[in-house]
Amino acid sequence: MALTLAELTETGLRVALPTGPAYFNHYWLRDACPSTIDAQTRERVFDIAGLAQPPRARAARIEAAELVVEWSGENHVTRLPLALLESVAMTGHAPDPAALPQRLWYGDHYPHFARLAQADVLRSDDARARLARALIEDGIALVTDMPDSDEGLDALVTALGPLTATAEGLHFDVRLEIAPTNLAFTARALEMHTDMPGEDAAPGIQFLHCRANTVDGGRSLFLDGAAVAEAFAKTDPEGFALLAEHPIPFFYRHDDWDYRGHQRVIERDSRGRVTGVTISQHLQDMIDLPQQLLDTYYPAFCRFLRMLQEDRFLCRFRLNAGECIVFDNHRIVHGREAYSAESGTRHLRGCYTDRGALRSTYRVLAARGCDGAG
Ligand SMILES: [Fe+2]
Repeated sequence: MALTLAELTETGLRVALPTGPAYFNHYWLRDACPSTIDAQTRERVFDIAGLAQPPRARAARIEAAELVVEWSGENHVTRLPLALLESVAMTGHAPDPAALPQRLWYGDHYPHFARLAQADVLRSDDARARLARALIEDGIALVTDMPDSDEGLDALVTALGPLTATAEGLHFDVRLEIAPTNLAFTARALEMHTDMPGEDAAPGIQFLHCRANTVDGGRSLFLDGAAVAEAFAKTDPEGFALLAEHPIPFFYRHDDWDYRGHQRVIERDSRGRVTGVTISQHLQDMIDLPQQLLDTYYPAFCRFLRMLQEDRFLCRFRLNAGECIVFDNHRIVHGREAYSAESGTRHLRGCYTDRGALRSTYRVLAARGCDGAG
């Protein structure tokens, strides 16, 4: 027997979900009807603005774990699973296997990085899901046993998503150059940074494949910018608010390019949760916030920069030939100690895919039953 557990209001329905009562707007309910999605293309084929009158429920009930809505003004019935409505009521969106909480990490994390062999990632959905999941949760993973070839890196990247280009093209090589376009291509220490903040959308997931490393020095430096930002929020909420609210300018320019973009130093999602950071003092432009605002912004920025240098956050390790460090460029801050150029060879080959592609891959794998957990 149908139970009447949905109450009509002027603008929507109050539904007695097993998790508690929740309100759903009429437009949203009509637009969420499964019939709006074409079975073949799986794209939306419904124009809510084309309805003769605003959507309004004539009757609604709960029946067999579904909300059933009969619409006035059109001969149409919508059935929505209560599980979907519960997810929307609890999280604001439909269930998303890729919406995994971040696992913040600190300076002792290097031994705990997820480690997967390149061949396993290419061959096994489960290994690929474990890599994708580690990149979503930890923002970093180490792929081992890389073939010593350009193709070996491309195969790894495309297992997660298509290569995305930057000013440097699809790939870049981090080694000594006679006329470097970037401090990375020298033997100097490379301060902690995220890549390409001068682009409108800085690249998402970065791969650095170590092809050779026989030099003295040059240890890699990595930290979890989200962990630092969360710590900063606790000790310095006013400073946190300034850095999370006001975008500042970055650039990337040389003979043939002149990128300029604004980014917030602390990045949050639409629900206000910290997702990462953008830091690059060597690609930071003159800050163009109002001068009076700089009276508080700059001291807060300096406090955050000093926190980023605290040892408790920093992993220092040597990247070895045959390893590829993979990390979320919007969250993980990286750098390098100086090295002795005459002591050997150091060559990292890098490229990117985007975060949307990573999450897409993870969702597809999760739908096949490979969630990469455990
Ligand atoms: Fe970099």
